[in-house]
Amino acid sequence: MKAIVDEDLCTGCELCTQTCPDVFEMVDDMAKVKGEEIPADTQDCAKQAAEECPVEAIKIE
Ligand code: F3S
Repeated sequence: MKAIVDEDLCTGCELCTQTCPDVFEMVDDMAKVKGEEIPADTQDCAKQAAEECPVEAIKIE
């Protein structure tokens, strides 16, 4: 599983980094995904972060 942050949509609200700090981090006021594949034990919080992003900038695939 992978997460992708659309940099054109992200407003830097930091919600995803609070919901799932193992997967998302802030770089230059923008959310970035740590690493390539999301480990199994953090996939649920990554999905939750995608659902909660106010501008739907996170895609999970
Ligand atoms: Fe950006 Fe959404 Fe996270 S706006 S900082 S991707 S919650």
